[in-house]
Amino acid sequence: MSDTILVTGASGHLGGLIVRHLLDSQHVDPSRIIAASRNTDKLADLAMRGVGVRKADFDDAAGLEKAFAGVGTVLIVSTDALDGAGTRLRQHKTAVSAAQKAGVKRIAYTSLPNAETSKVSFAPDHLGTEQAIKATGLPHLIFRNNWYQENLFMSLPQALKTGQWYTSAGDGRTAFIARDDIAAAIAAALANPPATSTTYTLSGPEAVDNKTIAGLVSQITGKPLQVIDLNDEQLAGGMKAAGLPESIIPTLVSFDTAARVGDLSTMSDDAGRLSGHKLRTVREFLEASKGALAG
Ligand SMILES: NC(=O)c1ccc[n+]([C@@H]2O[C@H](COP(=O)([O-])OP(=O)(O)OC[C@H]3O[C@@H](n4cnc5c(N)ncnc54)[C@H](OP(=O)(O)O)[C@@H]3O)[C@@H](O)[C@H]2O)c1
Repeated sequence: MSDTILVTGASGHLGGLIVRHLLDSQHVDPSRIIAASRNTDKLADLAMRGVGVRKADFDDAAGLEKAFAGVGTVLIVSTDALDGAGTRLRQHKTAVSAAQKAGVKRIAYTSLPNAETSKVSFAPDHLGTEQAIKATGLPHLIFRNNWYQENLFMSLPQALKTGQWYTSAGDGRTAFIARDDIAAAIAAALANPPATSTTYTLSGPEAVDNKTIAGLVSQITGKPLQVIDLNDEQLAGGMKAAGLPESIIPTLVSFDTAARVGDLSTMSDDAGRLSGHKLRTVREFLEASKGALAG
């Protein structure tokens, strides 16, 4: 059985970190690793380290089958096509089908927690992809990744400017995890796969609500930050008034809805157990990001 590991989206943040953890944390021989991207020029640094490089675009079924030929495990990193028109699920299904046709031995995928029921607007893309993978009958690894701590950069810098953080998440908690901790865990599972198909939930070391985060931010930056509780409609209205593109507003609001109802608070020790590392806390993330947050 081929024991090569191919990582798609290797020019992206998560895909690149996973390849680096395969090399540097798991000490997988570079000859066993293939980094794949739509643009292989962006993989020059990995090629220099002896990693194989292939072109892989989920919009090109025939090209994908070639890219996956002779591979042991394919990690399908979910794409960023959030157009609300079904593009992402179509892309993922194309990748799953190409992996099966190419004869890979195992499929791995980056999903989200509670994919069956999550209020996150694009949860059905992830559930549909998980189902397509299971339908192949191939051994598989599903990584249900919670929100990156880095996502807090989407809201906190602007909130700090005004001193007010508008949210409809209420007291809902999110088990934020460092993107690098996710990458380390995934690399460990790919390098030492379990004997049976497994679904992991990769959460951070704690689940925190927005008021707790705001308190930490104030303490660390010395700037006041008040949480303003809104309902979903008020939050959507505020986003529209602030000039956000209307097409993205339901998705952004769904993140707060999901946090409020507990979809993102699921705790698991899978990430730390896989990587063998202590996971970064939200406080540690905020302390390390103090300069960037305060602007
Ligand atoms: N858990 C979270 O908080 C969170 C946050 C943001 C995103 N995500 C999801 O996790 C994924 C990885 O996160 P990230 O931080 O690495 O995001 P990122 O840096 O924005 O990367 C986007 C990824 O999508 C890939 N991609 C886009 N179109 C593709 C296509 N047609 N065919 C194949 N790959 C395609 C890109 O691959 P190439 O450019 O190399 O082809 C790249 O790896 C994202 O794409 C998204 O699905 C999760």
